[in-house]
Amino acid sequence: MDRHAVIWTRQPSGPIKMGDLVVTEAETRFSYTPQFLELGPGAAGLALLSSPRLFGRDPVVFQNRDDFPLHPRLMSLIPGEGRRNIQRQIYTRMLLARPDRAATALSGFAFEWELLLLAGHNGIGHLDVFPDDLVADAFYAKDAPSAPVPAAASRSRFWRAVRDDVALDVQAMDAEAVAEMLGPTPSAGGMIPKLLVAIPDQPRWDGAFARPGTREVAGRRYVDVVLKIEPVEYAGVAELEALCLQLHVDAGFQVPRWWRATLDGLELLAVERFDRTPEGLPVAMESLYSVFATGRREFNSNQDTDLGEMAEWIEKLAAVANLDVRATQREIYRRLTVALCTGNGDMHLQNLSFLGGPEKVILSPVYDPAPMRAWPRHDVRLAVPLIPEKAIGGFAENWLALGRRYGMTRPQVRELVTWSLEATRDYPAQVQALAAVPAARRERLCDTVRRERALLEKALDAKV
Ligand SMILES: Nc1ncnc2c1ncn2[C@@H]1O[C@H](COP(=O)(O)OP(=O)(O)OP(=O)(O)O)[C@@H](O)[C@H]1O
Ligand SMILES: [Mg+2]
Repeated sequence: MDRHAVIWTRQPSGPIKMGDLVVTEAETRFSYTPQFLELGPGAAGLALLSSPRLFGRDPVVFQNRDDFPLHPRLMSLIPGEGRRNIQRQIYTRMLLARPDRAATALSGFAFEWELLLLAGHNGIGHLDVFPDDLVADAFYAKDAPSAPVPAAASRSRFWRAVRDDVALDVQAMDAEAVAEMLGPTPSAGGMIPKLLVAIPDQPRWDGAFARPGTREVAGRRYVDVVLKIEPVEYAGVAELEALCLQLHVDAGFQVPRWWRATLDGLELLAVERFDRTPEGLPVAMESLYSVFATGRREFNSNQDTDLGEMAEWIEKLAAVANLDVRATQREIYRRLTVALCTGNGDMHLQNLSFLGGPEKVILSPVYDPAPMRAWPRHDVRLAVPLIPEKAIGGFAENWLALGRRYGMTRPQVRELVTWSLEATRDYPAQVQALAAVPAARRERLCDTVRRERALLEKALDAKV
């Protein structure tokens, strides 16, 4: 069965149709519109490896496979399977409540496709998917520049609904309260429950919020954020992630602004979106995961590559997009090393993204630096494997050797690792000072971090 959809995006001059999409069991086929091609080959299209620069008038064809029944970039627009995905719950209810009830008969990819058509616009990045052009027109026409701020009474109904969802009390969740307040809310991936909203652009967040894209309410400027909601079994994760964001700021990384708040008993972390310009226009964003999955048929998980190969992929990508290879490689290795020193084993390929189109691609600012190794079930050293060579030595010696693959000389690697250790020296003490984080989590995290530091220090001493 052929499935049809259209993809639009927003430009400074207004919404523009990017192309037509046909999905069969065998392939995803996408053709750019002449109008979009007029923007030039550097425009950010469907994906970095499916760009107008590479395909022009020829259709982009992606051979679907079990794990990717659709082009990987479009897969990321479907609210994920996780039980904690608020959007998935809301959309599932909306589909089931349709008058024709046809959705109840849907399963497997047919259901995912319906979710894509409902949820696949105004999300992370610049792609807006719609069933057809009329739906797109209607969507952009009602896209009012400033949505009214919800009244305080319904706002608490909103937070209650979110709290029920976070407690996994699916039956109790007032999905309509969330849907009413935010409209059909677009989706963001990841494990922690989250919503895309706009909040007042002020140093402190008082809990006011509006629909994503709202620029101003009653004279107050608003800013788009990814709002992360702490689940009960990850008590302390909001505090820990905020600490790591601050650590990255102090170390000189590019980090979005963030706000911490406790509302109606929920621990919240709002992070400014870097896939929106200050004017609210979308910026193309694509994870390394999507790039790998588009580029290689054998790629179906983070384990299907390794950190050495990842460095080479950055080089390959530079052949099809304007990318500063050395700077990008160095920055990735720097982030990975700081992750190692802070107990963040969760640097998987969806936690690294590119911004921009083929004309100019850059690594996105730092996001999701949460030190998940504090939780036993997430206590892995590296989400993407490092293939060690015995001849080189143990883990830390191999880590230093890995730096060479990221385009640095031996002294440069040593300098970078030494710097990372220095930049994270006070981290264990800072973790211990976070009273909101359960003591067992703090102990575990600090033990892990001390062990990793000791290994790196020893390898540096040995002058490998
Ligand atoms: N500040 C931001 N601007 C734009 N997009 C963002 C931002 N922060 C996160 N995202 C997007 O939202 C997704 C989920 O966010 P994040 O990684 O912080 O959540 P998570 O639930 O902690 O993820 P994980 O499953 O890796 O633990 C990211 O993969 C990224 O695509
Ligand atoms: Mg993440």
